[in-house]
Amino acid sequence: MNGTNDGRGAPPSHRAGPSGAPRDSELEDEGLSSDAEAERAPRRPIQVMEDNTLHTRLTKDLGVHYPFVSAGMAFVALPPLVIAVSEAGGIGMLGSAPEPAPFLRARIQAIRGGTQRPFGVDFILDHARAGDLTTREHIDTCISERVPVVAFHWTLPPAAWVKDLRAAGIRVWVQAGSVDFAKDALALGVDGLIAQGRQAAGYNRGTTPTLKLVRELRALTRELPLLAAGGIADALSAARAMYHGADGVWVGTRMVASVEAYAHPGYKQRLVDGDARDSDFTTLFGPEWSGPRQRVLRNRVVREWAGREAKAPTQTQDTIGTTRLFPGLAGGDALYTMPRFSAFVPTPDTQGDLEEMVLPASGSSMARIESVQPAGQIVVEMMEGAHRLLANPYELEADADENDRS
Ligand SMILES: Cc1cc2nc3c(=O)[nH]c(=O)nc-3n(C[C@H](O)[C@H](O)[C@H](O)COP(=O)(O)O)c2cc1C
Repeated sequence: MNGTNDGRGAPPSHRAGPSGAPRDSELEDEGLSSDAEAERAPRRPIQVMEDNTLHTRLTKDLGVHYPFVSAGMAFVALPPLVIAVSEAGGIGMLGSAPEPAPFLRARIQAIRGGTQRPFGVDFILDHARAGDLTTREHIDTCISERVPVVAFHWTLPPAAWVKDLRAAGIRVWVQAGSVDFAKDALALGVDGLIAQGRQAAGYNRGTTPTLKLVRELRALTRELPLLAAGGIADALSAARAMYHGADGVWVGTRMVASVEAYAHPGYKQRLVDGDARDSDFTTLFGPEWSGPRQRVLRNRVVREWAGREAKAPTQTQDTIGTTRLFPGLAGGDALYTMPRFSAFVPTPDTQGDLEEMVLPASGSSMARIESVQPAGQIVVEMMEGAHRLLANPYELEADADENDRS
């Protein structure tokens, strides 16, 4: 350890690529309970190894130390997690739940209060019971706040949004679960792609395993940053993704099991205890936003309704607990009674039986999680370990176990 991340810009570093890696040229070319508390918390420096880093299109494009991005996760990826990841040298992504634009602005400003490093905002594009999850006002907020990266998931953004964000100097990324979807995103002129493999937790319509999809999307673009998402939760899985052509990793489940994630402690512990076969696809959840397929932990309610999700009552008056909608935000921190099959993930504010709730999770990732750790430590350990593995890449080629894991 010879460097300290003290909140200044990423340390200047020379290329220290994995000299023995056959795909070296591809690498070259290619918690806290509220935001206020997070801001008050003393910032502990994170040790990084300055001369021992990975350089990819992603790190070069955004001037970050590590090709590590924490997934935008609604309700869970709030400012404390974003700040911790960006301060460690990665890129933290704020998960935009369907909060109104003024609340989004407050979150962005809270992030700016905690880090000067690059970060991003992730939006889900779809129509929910309460209206569109993402609106032009959200986009204008990102433009006026000069957010470095905006990512979209589920459907494609209107061309005008992409154009205006890019004109403001904002990188626009799209999460894609198939070659066709990625092609359509590229036609819009996006700056980067996230390959969401079938192992990925959360809303996921993908059928292709992560590494295979990375190779397929790599073939579509040699120039743009390509991130791998789905089942990446330790140094080996990160190294494999980069060996197969990714410029970085986009990590969800592993980051839920971090100290700073705004997830219920019982949810985090289930991710530590869970294994490769403990997740599944379901369409069970979502009176608030119905239907989309997502990968979740196979808890009691998921097992009970497996194979007959369509028969689950949609107009039920039953409730499963309470939570708070937009914690820490004046005017938004309202108590919410969760209907049965609610799509809202349990946070530290949630009361009720977690066996009845949606717990987005990837089996492939859970198999690689051994404890809840500080987010910065996860970033540094995964990236330094991946660097070592890429320098001596035996067995990185293998993706045979991909299909078995989830
Ligand atoms: C709790 C949770 C919430 C998520 N919410 C979102 C979201 O709001 N927007 C989004 O683009 N992806 C969301 N995802 C999916 C991630 O972007 C990503 O595809 C996935 O986590 C990658 O797989 P992994 O969990 O194995 O790392 C979520 C994932 C989790 C675990």
